[in-house]
Amino acid sequence: MATSNANAVPHHIAIVMDGNGRWATRRFLPRIAGHRQGVGALNRCVQACIARGVAVLTVFAFSSENWNRPAEEVSGLLELLGLSLAREVPSLKANGVQLHFVGDRQRLSEKFKAGLAQAEAATAGNERLILNVCFNYGGRWDVAQAARKLSAEGLEITELALDRAMALAHVPDPDLLIRTGGEMRISNFLLWQAAYSELHFSDKLWPDFDDAALDAAIEVFRTRERRFGQTSAQLGSDGKNSTQKAA
Ligand code: IPE
Ligand code: IPE
Ligand code: MG
Repeated sequence: MATSNANAVPHHIAIVMDGNGRWATRRFLPRIAGHRQGVGALNRCVQACIARGVAVLTVFAFSSENWNRPAEEVSGLLELLGLSLAREVPSLKANGVQLHFVGDRQRLSEKFKAGLAQAEAATAGNERLILNVCFNYGGRWDVAQAARKLSAEGLEITELALDRAMALAHVPDPDLLIRTGGEMRISNFLLWQAAYSELHFSDKLWPDFDDAALDAAIEVFRTRERRFGQTSAQLGSDGKNSTQKAA
């Protein structure tokens, strides 16, 4: 049942971290410099989410389609992820962050896969913030892999069964989905899970996305009426948003 919570903090925020390339190009820097700056923005955002009581943060770091970028940028991004893991995992661990990598690992090297698994294992006991990093992720991949899993097990394909087989089955659906960088599209992000997420598009390029921009997004979220198919009148007094799915 939806309830009024105009002061609510979204339980789960998802972000398409877009605009790194443009951030760099505007400064006459190589695109990878923007991606490096983007890691800093993610660190700040993790801290800000913890400070505000957000329970789950899911970020889009590399899409299934990003393999189509120039080889130099792809290898730069892979290298940056490896370096960031080594650099950031100790502080993520100390800050109570539980890290998950969400996406297709089949095409990744054994060494890379081991790095992801190690980072997950190192932070597995943490409970302050769940951070899902979507890497080699696509919403269509997720639906297809979930359906394949059910069919391999001979299970009936129902909404509930698919939901449970999805790569984000360990968290509830996002309440607020933010895309930075000014584009107003989903780009194959959480196609299944964003069914009832509130959408917010920020013109800020991801490296410039700061605490004030996060607060602005949360403020907008608080003004939204989440109806989940019901009418305003059914929601009760002032019909403001709820962080819960309708029963
Ligand atoms: C998002 O920034 C990060 C990744 C896709 C890896 P972009 O690299 O897409 O930046 P723009 O959109 O070109 O500015
Ligand atoms: C989406 O951004 C993917 C990530 C942020 C990782 P893109 O920059 O790849 O999306 P398009 O190409 O503009 O749709
Ligand atoms: Mg982009």
